[in-house]
Amino acid sequence: MKVIDLRSDTVTHPTPEMRKAMFEAEVGDDVYGEDPTVNRLEAMAAEMMGKEAALFTTSGTQSNLTAVLTHTKHGDEIIVGDEAHMLWYEMGGAAALGGVTIRTVSNDRRGRLSLDDIDRTIRAKDIHYPETRLLCLENTHNRCGGTVLTPDYTNEVCDLAHTRGLKVYLDGARIFNATVALGVSACTLTQNVDSVALCLSKGLSAPVGSLLCGSKDFIERARKFRKMLGGGMRQAGVIAAAGIVALETMVERLAEDHNNARRLAQGLTNIEGITLAQDDIPTNIVMFDLSPELSVAEFFKSLERAGVKVGLRDGRPFRAVTHRMVSSSDIDEALIRIEAVCRRLRCRTSE
Ligand SMILES: Cc1ncc(COP(=O)(O)O)c(C=O)c1O
Repeated sequence: MKVIDLRSDTVTHPTPEMRKAMFEAEVGDDVYGEDPTVNRLEAMAAEMMGKEAALFTTSGTQSNLTAVLTHTKHGDEIIVGDEAHMLWYEMGGAAALGGVTIRTVSNDRRGRLSLDDIDRTIRAKDIHYPETRLLCLENTHNRCGGTVLTPDYTNEVCDLAHTRGLKVYLDGARIFNATVALGVSACTLTQNVDSVALCLSKGLSAPVGSLLCGSKDFIERARKFRKMLGGGMRQAGVIAAAGIVALETMVERLAEDHNNARRLAQGLTNIEGITLAQDDIPTNIVMFDLSPELSVAEFFKSLERAGVKVGLRDGRPFRAVTHRMVSSSDIDEALIRIEAVCRRLRCRTSE
């Protein structure tokens, strides 16, 4: 039985072309700036994001933390959405290692922060207050179901933040899902943010890595913080080579994942006992709930036994993420197995 793993797009394996590129990669010591493959990947990412420079990091988490460290001083404050990945799943690194306080503003169902809330949350100049230094956005938004921030919205937030003296950082771990969904170039989404990170190891299928992009001066300073975090990686061209293949060949195909996510969502709405926890499915994330009479723990266990893995965390809706290693017929098969599990649970509760 094929296991259909919908926990995350991070489970994707490198493609044969990536493995070949890794095998053949020209390398050098990247801490000395001498790895030609890393240098090429960084230049590509900077160009795609419309920024002067980029830095190859080990992970999205390392990019996010490096960005916070570079934009702030110890004792500053940053604003993030209350559903932000940076807040929930990164070990409080910004506070623990950056010494910054993290202030939250509510994310709406589309992953946005309201301009009024942002305006109200930025500190006035006052002897009692820390300096609000940085505002962080997330596009696409993971916990808000892969929702997409538009260029207009992003630009409005940047205008407000810049007028109030803040920098803006965009956690763009899945920014290419946003560009594909909107049919725009990445630059359109990043033109006014001060820095942005993208991930190679999610829907783009590379094995490792993320790129933090910004001005030349910002990236020069970020490079020192990456070193401090243990992210100076020597012959990293071996993994950067897969990242180059990812950026060159894996972006457009994300549309397939989005189609499969919609196919999954459509099928789920036809299963008794399941309701979608989202208004629509803009990209590759589908969140759904079980009717209260069915046991979440039993559903989760039975589904895993039936060879379908989905995400379950913090009493939240279930999460299913589509990706390159799940085809449309896998989605149909997953729906058959999910339906069967629900039917069994329903029978048991009505006995
Ligand atoms: C929006 C977002 N940002 C950052 C990350 C962290 O990436 P990594 O797992 O590479 O540290 C993730 C991981 O899923 C994410 O979804």
